[in-house]
Amino acid sequence: MTDRFDGMVAIVTGAAGGIGRATCVRFAEDGATVVAVDLAGSDLDETVAAVSNAGGQCLTVEADVTQEADVARYVAETIAAYGRVDAFFNNAGIEGVRAALTDLDEDDFDKVIAVNLKGVWLGMKHVAPAIAQSGGGAIVNTASIAGLSPTPGIIAYGASKHAVVGMTKSAAQELAPAVRVNAVCPGPVETRMMRSLERQFDPDNPEAVHDMFAQANPLGRYAEPEEVAALVTWLCSDDSRYINGAMHTIDGGGNRTR
Ligand SMILES: NC(=O)c1ccc[n+]([C@@H]2O[C@H](COP(=O)([O-])OP(=O)(O)OC[C@H]3O[C@@H](n4cnc5c(N)ncnc54)[C@H](O)[C@@H]3O)[C@@H](O)[C@H]2O)c1
Repeated sequence: MTDRFDGMVAIVTGAAGGIGRATCVRFAEDGATVVAVDLAGSDLDETVAAVSNAGGQCLTVEADVTQEADVARYVAETIAAYGRVDAFFNNAGIEGVRAALTDLDEDDFDKVIAVNLKGVWLGMKHVAPAIAQSGGGAIVNTASIAGLSPTPGIIAYGASKHAVVGMTKSAAQELAPAVRVNAVCPGPVETRMMRSLERQFDPDNPEAVHDMFAQANPLGRYAEPEEVAALVTWLCSDDSRYINGAMHTIDGGGNRTR
């Protein structure tokens, strides 16, 4: 679409998922070389195909964002392959189990916190120095509207996303001026994660849950992953060079029933 990322390298975590893959494609369309990070056994091949269809190049790294050695390795493999990092979409996340807070198991709480909170911190810890050594750039963390408002039934998810908001604000001050750090806060997006939450709300009729959420939205629908990708890549571009430590909701105007 543009050449705004020509010669630049972007790392995306959760790159086999809906929002991550769309963002890999958008980075590639705008000239970046993409490093796609996700778990072993995830659909990274489909991301490679999508980036290739967009005329781009994509290195894949199988890594678990909760493991510091894996995080260090995806940065090392990026530098070994391309010698630089300019942008980082710190996006891997899980929804966890829907349950009343009094029924939630400790393991289920810990899993969500490990990926959505610790994984985001580890990503910034290891990628930010590489971006600074490359001459500066931007990080975008994936928070959620669940990081800004109550989330009954998914307390660990809401807590983790509030933490991403907090970490983003702190990181934006610590890492500037070499690295800008912002967060995106999507409402419902058409990906696997919302399919899972819809099933957890009503296993017998997840389609009705989808329609209920869509109708509660002023725009009458969920976001498409490509719409989130457009915001993320803009936040990584020079056009947003004075935007730092900001939370960007992308939710069609919210939920009218709240
Ligand atoms: N879909 C929505 O409605 C929505 C709304 C707000 C925020 N988000 C956030 O957007 C991000 C992307 O979610 P999505 O909607 O594309 O869902 P998704 O499930 O399609 O993608 C998430 C990806 O993260 C990967 N992942 C999970 N744990 C990992 C780990 N330990 N290490 C490496 N990769 C891991 C998964 O394999 C998957 O490919 C998440 O952080 C999610 O919380 C999604």
